[in-house]
Amino acid sequence: MPHSPSPVPDFLYGTAWKEDRTPALTELALRMGFRGIDTANQRRHYFEEGVGQGLAAAYRAGLVTRDDLFLQTKFTYRPGQDHRLPYDPAASLSVQVAQSMASSLDHLATGYVDSYVLHGPSSNHDWTDADTEVWEAMRKERDAGRTRFLGVSNVSLRHLQQMAAARAELPAFVQNRCYARLGWDRAVRLFCRERKIIYQGFSLLTANQEVLHHPLIASLTTASLAANANATPAQVVFSFARTVGILPLTGTSDREHMKQDLASRDLTLPPDAIYTIESLAG
Ligand SMILES: NC(=O)c1ccc[n+]([C@@H]2O[C@H](COP(=O)([O-])OP(=O)(O)OC[C@H]3O[C@@H](n4cnc5c(N)ncnc54)[C@H](OP(=O)(O)O)[C@@H]3O)[C@@H](O)[C@H]2O)c1
Repeated sequence: MPHSPSPVPDFLYGTAWKEDRTPALTELALRMGFRGIDTANQRRHYFEEGVGQGLAAAYRAGLVTRDDLFLQTKFTYRPGQDHRLPYDPAASLSVQVAQSMASSLDHLATGYVDSYVLHGPSSNHDWTDADTEVWEAMRKERDAGRTRFLGVSNVSLRHLQQMAAARAELPAFVQNRCYARLGWDRAVRLFCRERKIIYQGFSLLTANQEVLHHPLIASLTTASLAANANATPAQVVFSFARTVGILPLTGTSDREHMKQDLASRDLTLPPDAIYTIESLAG
C-alpha cells in the first residue's frame, strides 16, 4: 500500500487497443500529465504487460513514482477473453479472480492497484450468482490490500439495483459507455450520485458523433474560451462531462489530443449550456 494514497484523478488515460504502442503511449500520457491509467487483464483488447513497461520507463525517467499514480485494472470473465488467459479456466471463479489479480500485479510491477473493476457482469440482464462469487473474491483482494477500491463496468441500473437488493457492498466506481442519446447514461449516473459512487464514462467521443457535430457544440467552442484560444468540440464534451460529475476516460494516441484533453479541465461552460448538452440527444 502507498505511504499516502494518490487521490482519484480527474482524467483517466485508457490503454485499450494500443498493442505494441502501449508502452510508449502509456509513458507519453504520463509525460503529458495524466496520472490515472486504466487497463485490463484481457489480452484481447489490452496489453497490460505493455502498460507495465510504460510505467517502468516513466519511473526510470523520473517522471513519476508509483505513489503519484492511480492504476486501475479489471477482471474479465472467460467469454470476454481470447486464448491468452490470465487464469486457469478450469478453476473456480474465486480462484480465477485471485490468479488474474496476481498476474495484473506482476504485469504492472506493483504490490497493489488503486481500483479493481469487474469488466462486466456475466449476464446482460441480471446480477447472477457467478457475479456474487466474483465480487466476494474481489472484496477479499481488497481486504488483503491488493486494491484500494472496487468497481463494476458495463452495468445497467437493473444490475446495480439487484446488487443493492442483495445487500452486496456497492462499488466505489462504475465505468460505463456513455451515450448522449441515453441522457449520457442518466439513470445509472443518478443511482451513482445518490450513493456517492464515482461514475467513469468512456466512449464519450466515439459514441456521440452526433453531439460533436451539433451546432450548439460548435457555438461553444468559440464562446467559452479566451478570445485567442478556441476550444475543440472534444474539449467541450470533456468539460461538460466533468461538470455533470462524470470522470472521463480518453484513449487518444495523439500527443496533441492528450494535451487538449487535459486542457479541457480549464474550460468552464455556461450553466445553461450544461443543461442543454445534457438533454441534447436524450
Ligand atoms: N470497460 C470497458 O468495457 C471499456 C470499453 C471501451 C473502452 N474502455 C476504456 O476507455 C478508454 C477510452 O476508450 P474510448 O472508447 O473512449 O475511445 P478512445 O480509445 O478514447 O478513442 C477516441 C477516438 O477519438 C479520437 N479523437 C479525436 N479527437 C480526440 C481528442 N481531442 N481526444 C481524444 N480522442 C480524440 C481518437 O483518435 P486519436 O487517437 O487520433 O486522438 C480515437 O480514435 C479505453 O482505452 C479503455 O481504457 C473501457
